[in-house]
Amino acid sequence: MKIVVSGTGYVGLVTAVCLSEVGHTVTCVDVVKEKIDMLNEGKSPIFEPGLEELMQKNKDKLTYTLNGKLAYKDADVIFIGVGTPEKKDGSANLKYVYEVAKEIAENIENNAIIVIKSTVPIGTNKKIEKYIRDNLKHDVKIEIVSNPEFLSQGTAVRDTLHAQRIVLGVNTKHAEEIMKRVYDGFNLPYVITNRESAEMIKYASNDFLALKISYINEIANLCEIVGANVEDVAKGMGMDSRIGNKFLQAGIGYGGSCFPKDTKALNWLANFNDYELKTIKAAIEVNTNQKLKLLKKARKYYDSLEGLNVAVLGLTFKPNTDDLREAPSLENIPILLDDGANIKAYDPVGEKRFKKIYPTEIKYCKTLEETLENADICFIFTEWDFVKNMDISMYEKLMRVPIVLDGRNCYSLESFENTNIVYDSIGRKTINQNKIAKDIAKN
Ligand code: UGA
Repeated sequence: MKIVVSGTGYVGLVTAVCLSEVGHTVTCVDVVKEKIDMLNEGKSPIFEPGLEELMQKNKDKLTYTLNGKLAYKDADVIFIGVGTPEKKDGSANLKYVYEVAKEIAENIENNAIIVIKSTVPIGTNKKIEKYIRDNLKHDVKIEIVSNPEFLSQGTAVRDTLHAQRIVLGVNTKHAEEIMKRVYDGFNLPYVITNRESAEMIKYASNDFLALKISYINEIANLCEIVGANVEDVAKGMGMDSRIGNKFLQAGIGYGGSCFPKDTKALNWLANFNDYELKTIKAAIEVNTNQKLKLLKKARKYYDSLEGLNVAVLGLTFKPNTDDLREAPSLENIPILLDDGANIKAYDPVGEKRFKKIYPTEIKYCKTLEETLENADICFIFTEWDFVKNMDISMYEKLMRVPIVLDGRNCYSLESFENTNIVYDSIGRKTINQNKIAKDIAKN
């Protein structure tokens, strides 16, 4: 079976490499020359733990090319895994999916199954099928299958090889059988349904998780007001298997390339169909406010941030990725800069991309020590291991005023109890708040 995967981002490349791991020979197509060059040198264009090793292990089964025309020509199964970014109005931009569909239609000379892995609005599979059939240049039969993915950045390989389900939206028994042959080596349970339901499973899953995060974040905000502890609350809730203990980690909101985009896209689709998705609208609104939660906290300690030395730990939207899309750091740093703060940041993985947006406005540090030295306040935006595992006495030893605003609840409250560090996290009581108020007053 000749398999081609179009798009070498998180979805496409991880899918291709995992398919090769179970024995398939896969051709990866992309339109960006730098990516294909890197791949041909054995390097992954995305930061994803374990991916490069797997590429190396299966290098004889993987080919990377810019030549889609040739790759599609005699393919049996073609996966479309290109991006569907957000448009200004919140809807999904399907430009790249259609570009691939056009190239497929004009070049295939074999009957083929075309699998849409990209997250696409409900109804898209059907439209793409018509579009390809209308534009075919050869007399061939094509079928479109919806096969959404559920991988998370940072754990993408494991999430794919050991997924909890494989969702297949199919129109015919023939397509179902071919897809089961593709996934035979994975040995995972299937959900077989129609294409609209498969498309909806993807959005409904992502939006439910986003809603769960916004829900726990609202509970956390209320916990702070009424003196409850959100970690204990989440633990108590999560032990009920009907609720589950995952995605109840309160913080400064969800970011990344999926939840923000997919909540807005489903909301847009509902509006477009004259339906109001009240829960998802609320999740979006809560998340927008939550991202600025640390700034609100900072203003409790300082009337103005002008001239203050601000230490920032973590820039990426979550650990184990260099992705900055919709990261809380990108919401907060422009405001801190506008307010006249001097920012020093530490994130060895996220720094390179952040520098492209803010080349000179902030100082990028090489060590935690350098970042914290003389700081008047510290913002933690990402729960990297280097933050969670650091010796917290460094805050006290190095900062001018040891106020730590932790947007990801990296530490236990107890660890700050016998220190002079103000530790202000999400949904939990602030430790040592009064001690520092006096120190600041002295300054
Ligand atoms: C998400 C989904 O988890 C995947 O199942 C899905 O396949 C993927 O989107 C996609 O559609 O491609 P991802 O965006 O990589 O994956 O990251 P997550 O680990 O889900 O985290 C998203 C955001 O939620 C992060 O900013 C994270 O910090 C935040 N989060 C997560 C919380 O604030 N609390 C939690 O309890 C969990």
